[in-house]
Amino acid sequence: MNRLSYENAPRILVKPPGPKSLELLDIQDKYETKSRIYTQIFRMAVDDAKGSTVKDVDGNIYIDWFSGISVLNLGHSNPIVIDAIQNQLNKIDHINEVPTEARVQFLKTLESTLPGKLRNNAKIMFTVTGGDACEAAVSLARYITKKKIIIAFSGSYHGIAGEIASATANYHYREYENLDYHNFYHLPYPYKYRFPIKVNDEDISKVVIDMLENILKDNYSGIGPVGGVLVEPIQGEGGYIVPPDDFLPMLREVTEKYSIPLIADEVQSGVGRTGKIWASEHWSITPDIMCISKSIGGGIPASMIAYKKEYDEFLPQGFHLGTYRGNPLALAAGNAILNYLQNSEILNRVQEKGKYIVERFNEMSYISNYIGDVRGKGFMIGVELVKDRKSKEPATDVAIQLKKKLFEKGLLMHTCGHYGNVMRFMAPLTIEDDLIDKGLEVFENSIKEIGNT
Ligand SMILES: Cc1ncc(COP(=O)(O)O)c(C=O)c1O
Repeated sequence: MNRLSYENAPRILVKPPGPKSLELLDIQDKYETKSRIYTQIFRMAVDDAKGSTVKDVDGNIYIDWFSGISVLNLGHSNPIVIDAIQNQLNKIDHINEVPTEARVQFLKTLESTLPGKLRNNAKIMFTVTGGDACEAAVSLARYITKKKIIIAFSGSYHGIAGEIASATANYHYREYENLDYHNFYHLPYPYKYRFPIKVNDEDISKVVIDMLENILKDNYSGIGPVGGVLVEPIQGEGGYIVPPDDFLPMLREVTEKYSIPLIADEVQSGVGRTGKIWASEHWSITPDIMCISKSIGGGIPASMIAYKKEYDEFLPQGFHLGTYRGNPLALAAGNAILNYLQNSEILNRVQEKGKYIVERFNEMSYISNYIGDVRGKGFMIGVELVKDRKSKEPATDVAIQLKKKLFEKGLLMHTCGHYGNVMRFMAPLTIEDDLIDKGLEVFENSIKEIGNT
């Protein structure tokens, strides 16, 4: 692929927010809700964006390690995506469920990428957002099993609108919506760096699976009957946490043993982000239901679930309906994106480069004691900051300071984690080598400047 990004990034001409940005931010403040988040983190107004770079209205150019929260895995304005959308725009841009070439092509291509036994053997149900897909997945599991309780995991994020807010672990979202706790029960995610139960690292998966199995088999466990298990194969908002290698295979085994649908939420980990099209492929597991969104629409909102064909015979017409499902522009983009991921060398590069980036962040732990843990697969990499490696006290304030410093130096990088203390590498998969290295240099200099060496 030819170079997609601006050549001269990062380029800071005026400390952000510059005067033109401020003008637009002020107007936005006047009209738009105060509950926004990202305008506090990246205080600028955008002019345009190319590849893995974003230009603000004051002429500053930033390296983008943010990808619109993993929505632009092929970068901004990728000609592959733009051409697909433009061609489709000339034909039809909205129709409800009736087949179009774009829809049929997308279905065929998507099916050919699905993990394990779902490949060319699944049914697809379109939804609109990531949360909507998770909501549909949970409804499907409950409908099939006629059981209400869904087991999710601490640190999980599955959306915040409606009942799915109860699957998302952070209780604030339920409080904002004044929701009751809707039949979700959370087990600890196998988060090696901060596992809440004192056990040897190699026993972590077993402990979680034993807790789950106890719930599934013991009518007196106090939790049940269970209609599904909802898991992020690599946890996103919870802190870019890669589970131990035995966790997902064991989870698959136990859910199969008790005939409980296993739902993999691949909203963030999917579409190539981890160096495979689906993160589930790293552990060769086949979920019964899979949630897909973010990069699948190339920037146009789209989501869907893929599920075991056998479930289809039980579904009535009108199950989980919605006006905007399966937008032709998004499906044309999704088809082009999946084809590119399948037929190019990009995923091998993401795996290799991902290892290099993890190595570079690990090297930086020699110059900064704030770096407590580095983990990830492909381009889903977390750097967890702590005040002190022994106590592991989260260095949330340092993460906030670092994020601001990086922004002012022209690098867009976001955080995640239970305490907001995990720096999060989620650059477009297409990012050029020089922008990886320049970004790493900016990161290294900034963390050095903050101190604690
Ligand atoms: C794993 C996961 N599931 C679901 C969602 C919710 O997606 P949306 O914000 O589109 O509703 C997100 C969003 O970040 C996510 O990371």
